[in-house]
Amino acid sequence: MARIYFDNAATTPLDPEVFQAMVPFFTEKFGNPSSIYSYGRETRMAIENARKTVARILNAHPAEIFFTSGGTESTNTAINAAVFDLGCKHIITSPLEHHATLHSVEHLSNDFGIKLSYLNVFPNGQIDYDHLENLLKESKEKCLVSLMHANNEIGTITDIEKVGNLCKEYEAIYNADTVQTVGHFPIDLKRLHVHFINAAGHKFHGPKGVGILYINENIKIHPFVNGGSQERGMRAGTENIYGIIGFAKALELAIDNLQQESSHIREVRDYMKESLMKNIPGVRFNGDPDGKSLYTVLSVAFPKTEKSDMLLFNLDIHNICASGGSACTSGVEKGSHVISAVAPGSNQQTVRFSFSKYNTKEEVDVVVDKLKEMI
Ligand SMILES: Cc1ncc(COP(=O)(O)O)c(C=O)c1O
Repeated sequence: MARIYFDNAATTPLDPEVFQAMVPFFTEKFGNPSSIYSYGRETRMAIENARKTVARILNAHPAEIFFTSGGTESTNTAINAAVFDLGCKHIITSPLEHHATLHSVEHLSNDFGIKLSYLNVFPNGQIDYDHLENLLKESKEKCLVSLMHANNEIGTITDIEKVGNLCKEYEAIYNADTVQTVGHFPIDLKRLHVHFINAAGHKFHGPKGVGILYINENIKIHPFVNGGSQERGMRAGTENIYGIIGFAKALELAIDNLQQESSHIREVRDYMKESLMKNIPGVRFNGDPDGKSLYTVLSVAFPKTEKSDMLLFNLDIHNICASGGSACTSGVEKGSHVISAVAPGSNQQTVRFSFSKYNTKEEVDVVVDKLKEMI
């Protein structure tokens, strides 16, 4: 039976067009971008063109875009820089963040005495904006607000504009984890009051192990990897050229085709939601799927039964790829921290289905039929 891949929030397959754009940089265009002769100039030019493409799409200045190894490195860097270079002594975040954020802020709190506040969250995964404003208003120390734009497990979207305006008003540094939204939504950095955003190429049909960190031109941080002068002296080390080329190409394709692809994906997701409601008694959905939500994610709460306990395992047996929350929690006994925060003590079996342009309603039919048999 053909494999059905419904785990695109974990990672997406590489677009063949992206692969084609990368190929020459594995073969004939192999020069070190720091070399002064033609081979080097050729790859240097390719990297700078990729940077310009990314900057144009996000409406940033090319000097504000730094290529990194992905979302985790970027958000770690932003958080550390806010504390060690920008003087933030109080971090405001939420219990729903990705571990790339949570583990970073816990480390800063435990080992460096940085004050840590977690926002209250509503059952649909929305943060409490009043709580955020009160914390900002009352803080005696300079704050870093580190919040994800969209939740990778349940899809809930945070109002990045509203948070940015609050951060501006209270002079806080704002790091938005945009890993699940770059390439899926238009982002206009000139309009937003944000100091850092991040992205990972593999979430929008680009290669793995490459991402960006956007650093607003008005703030200055120290180099985050020391050594050579790559990335304008901020992140030393010979560049991941094919990754960078692939990242820019994937972002370009994603944004060029955004309208058409997003409406297709939304249709597939909504079709699955309806089909589950018709066919599985007691099914519920986590997050805010009909409101402010990623159109790529459907987090399903199945009633807990002996059979539903084995759901992910049985889906896998039938060649259906989905995850128990996020990729980091799948295969691990520990439950999802996101579900625990939005539905404490709930008796549910969560499966996150997440979709891409390659998925179809026919695949949904197959998956729902199998789920009916399993439950
Ligand atoms: C919201 C969010 N932030 C950060 C990351 C980390 O990205 P990466 O694994 O590419 O470093 C992910 C990946 O799942 C994510 O979904």
